[in-house]
Amino acid sequence: MKLSRAAKTYLLFLIFLTVSVSYVSVNLPNFGEQWLGLMTPFLIFAGISLLIQIYEIELVHRGNIAITHPIFIATLLLGGLPLAIAVMAISTLAAELIVRWPLIKGNSLQRYMVTVAFNVSQIAVSSFAAAAIFEVLGGHSLLPGGHITNSEAPVALVLAASVGFLTYSFTSSALVAGIISLTEKTSFSYYLRFGLENLLVQILSLGALGILLAEVYSYSPWNLLLVLIPMGLVHASLRNYMRLRQEAQKTFQSVAQMLAVRDPYTYEHSEGVEQLAGDVARICSLSQDEIENVKAAALIHDIGKLAVPDRILLKPGPLTEEERKEMEKHPVIGAELLKNLEIYRGIVQIVRHEHERWDGKGYPDGLLDEKIPFGARIIAVADVYNALTTDRPYRKAFPHTIALKMIRDESGKQFDPRVVNALLQFFGELAEQPQPILRRAWQTAIPFTPILILVVIFLLKYA
Ligand SMILES: [Fe+2]
Repeated sequence: MKLSRAAKTYLLFLIFLTVSVSYVSVNLPNFGEQWLGLMTPFLIFAGISLLIQIYEIELVHRGNIAITHPIFIATLLLGGLPLAIAVMAISTLAAELIVRWPLIKGNSLQRYMVTVAFNVSQIAVSSFAAAAIFEVLGGHSLLPGGHITNSEAPVALVLAASVGFLTYSFTSSALVAGIISLTEKTSFSYYLRFGLENLLVQILSLGALGILLAEVYSYSPWNLLLVLIPMGLVHASLRNYMRLRQEAQKTFQSVAQMLAVRDPYTYEHSEGVEQLAGDVARICSLSQDEIENVKAAALIHDIGKLAVPDRILLKPGPLTEEERKEMEKHPVIGAELLKNLEIYRGIVQIVRHEHERWDGKGYPDGLLDEKIPFGARIIAVADVYNALTTDRPYRKAFPHTIALKMIRDESGKQFDPRVVNALLQFFGELAEQPQPILRRAWQTAIPFTPILILVVIFLLKYA
């Protein structure tokens, strides 16, 4: 990960904001006194939060996730801003220092510091923004001695906590989207949408769990065990389940790679197609899940070739009619292999139809234009580009420009014109949008808006 100048500026702003909110938090009236009374909940919740972050759950395609939202909401309700900030910032700092340690072993001290600094800062700033909103809406801490059910306005309190949850999710997602879009130079709104997916489900599950944790704790810390034991079991089984999925996926990728032993071309080819298909899918504005499906399909799209005999697969010259028929079975065999695996449910149809043609003259089912799954249309183009630009047993690779021209000529015949355009756009062959400088400036400025909004709110309230 190489940070651009804009990304470095962004990170510096965020660290500055973190130092400011920490300073303000510590200097709030009664912070010190409140702290002494909050020592027990701090230790308990920081401990739970640390465990959740160390034992984060691996998501297929999406990296790792630690679900700390319920801890944030519980501490906010129990001890207000001081407890929430202290628990989140300190547990995240400790967890990050431990979890990112492999980066140090990989001699990436700078990456280690940048990752830890960003993750801790974004959690601290999001917690502060959410806690401030919670208090503005009349939210108050339950400790010592209060309970949600006995409070004067329990509904208002739960509402304030829910808006706090929304603020936390929104700020955190916006800050993460900001750094990703500045680092990878991709759309900010794309990653923001990705972070805020299923927000309602999150509130109803994680938010409700946080409120439950706070209420149960407010009667006695021991009651927490009633919630934490089942929660821990669910966490452990979810973690195991996700690990099994990962392992199943890796196994299939290794099986696909076994083709390398027979046919090195197919293996290298699959990796090239995966990369290009992912880029084209992104340009076509597919959702993150769809992009990951396209990439996963690209990586194993030729797995059915395992069933094609060597004399056909490795034949240096053109195939006879009968051999061609045998070869053309590979998408169907591939789809059959994958169809009973839940992890590949989204890609079976892509693998089956990767050799269909836009004009309906492809195989195995002769599907026409829009009837072909979109992912399969993307892989068809990426597959052919990659094949044309690679040396084959019976011919040399075509130069990039010739390959692009050949694909362009087949637009609307073999290929979906929209996908061909996306490929050309990816290689910079289509005219850029007008006012590229303004557009670029706009793209760099957008990710900074959440930070600027936070700075303005902060200055208005505390300066
Ligand atoms: Fe194929």
